[in-house]
Amino acid sequence: MAVAEISPSSYAKTLHSDLSSKPSNPLRARTSRCRSAALPPRPAPTIRCSVAPNQVQTLVSPAVPTGAASKRECFGVFCTTYDLKADEKTKSWKSLINIAVSGAAGMISNHLLFKLASGEVFGPDQPITLKLLGSERSFQALEGVAMELEDSLYPLLREVSIGINPYEVFQDVEWALLIGAKPRGPGMERAGLLDINGQIFAEQGKALNAVASRNVKVIVVGNPCNTNALICLKNAPNIPAKNFHALTRLDENRAKCQLALKAGVFYDRVSNVTIWGNHSTTQVPDFLNAKINGIPVKEVIKDTKWLEKDFTENVQKRGGVLIQKWGRSSAASTAVSVVDAIRSLIIPTPEGDWFSSGVYTNGNPYGIAEDIVFSMPCRSDGNGDYELVKDVVIDDYLRGRIKKSEAELLAEKRCVAHLTGEGNAYCDLPEDTMLPGEQ
Ligand code: LMR
Repeated sequence: MAVAEISPSSYAKTLHSDLSSKPSNPLRARTSRCRSAALPPRPAPTIRCSVAPNQVQTLVSPAVPTGAASKRECFGVFCTTYDLKADEKTKSWKSLINIAVSGAAGMISNHLLFKLASGEVFGPDQPITLKLLGSERSFQALEGVAMELEDSLYPLLREVSIGINPYEVFQDVEWALLIGAKPRGPGMERAGLLDINGQIFAEQGKALNAVASRNVKVIVVGNPCNTNALICLKNAPNIPAKNFHALTRLDENRAKCQLALKAGVFYDRVSNVTIWGNHSTTQVPDFLNAKINGIPVKEVIKDTKWLEKDFTENVQKRGGVLIQKWGRSSAASTAVSVVDAIRSLIIPTPEGDWFSSGVYTNGNPYGIAEDIVFSMPCRSDGNGDYELVKDVVIDDYLRGRIKKSEAELLAEKRCVAHLTGEGNAYCDLPEDTMLPGEQ
């Protein structure tokens, strides 16, 4: 596919005409791709679009206004105006929301993007924009992803943009799903992994701070996700720390599945499952407060040894076992859990239940250290925000486990102090702790 390159000076020109561009009438949402923003001082990026202006033939559809053919900033079919069919005009559509996805050319995104575009996540009357962040190396693959999105003809997907500069891609985003991160390479120390990924998330935090919606909700998936989320929020002081989440919903889902299997019930019977702590092998899947058919798990599964050992380790190490089977990290189930995490924030939590999310600790009733990102039980009114569930019982067994995960996160935090603006880093990471995929 031919690529048009737009110099920063030329796209700066398009900025003012298009950047206001949350359309007043979402029915006429126009595409605008590869937009620029007020760029911070940094090397000028190269912005590429899928269709060069001279490749777009004169459009014949009366729905496409004159001049659309000369728009330079759109990706392929998203250059056109979405023309509602007459019968759709009576439907009430919500205004467009902007969603950024990093690591957009990766496996998790390959599942997630199509769920987002289909309406499965935000609902069948919610049009969306997808802003895809990749790297120089993955740019061609990113174009491939955008082409597949084109070919899918999703009526709710009104805009798609691709780019490698977070300061552009994150412009006005209301959701940022931060998936892209480097996997730990052979011989790489865990401190090295924290540093290399931490730099990515420090940069993305700064970019969100500069150009995203002030109320953007951020879900960090790239590992080590708790500490990456901490780095990201520390670099985004103008966005509430409460808006940042580290994905532990995958672990919650895994825990529900294990409990359902043991109890011989379908997994919809399992509720009130908390994952405490870090998304690592120190995480604590809480069977003490979990319920099956509304009854405490310990009354249904009487095998305490299984709960404390097998169940706990199965959940902690599930990611690693999957890597052994697949030869790569979990992707589809991670994407599903990102969907679950989003929907937990936009749909009221069922009465009496809760969900797990890695959240910033800033006043919590469980004695967890402040100023880290720690997975805890949360509830939401469905407005994008959440509250901690404050009356969950913690016994000595749980407390001991939780302390270990807390110690690990505090050590990770010391190791990235240079990225959170808290002085010099000092790495004394516990040796026996690993990401779920690292065993
Ligand atoms: C998972 O839990 O499946 C992943 O976080 C594993 C990994 O390390 O990529």
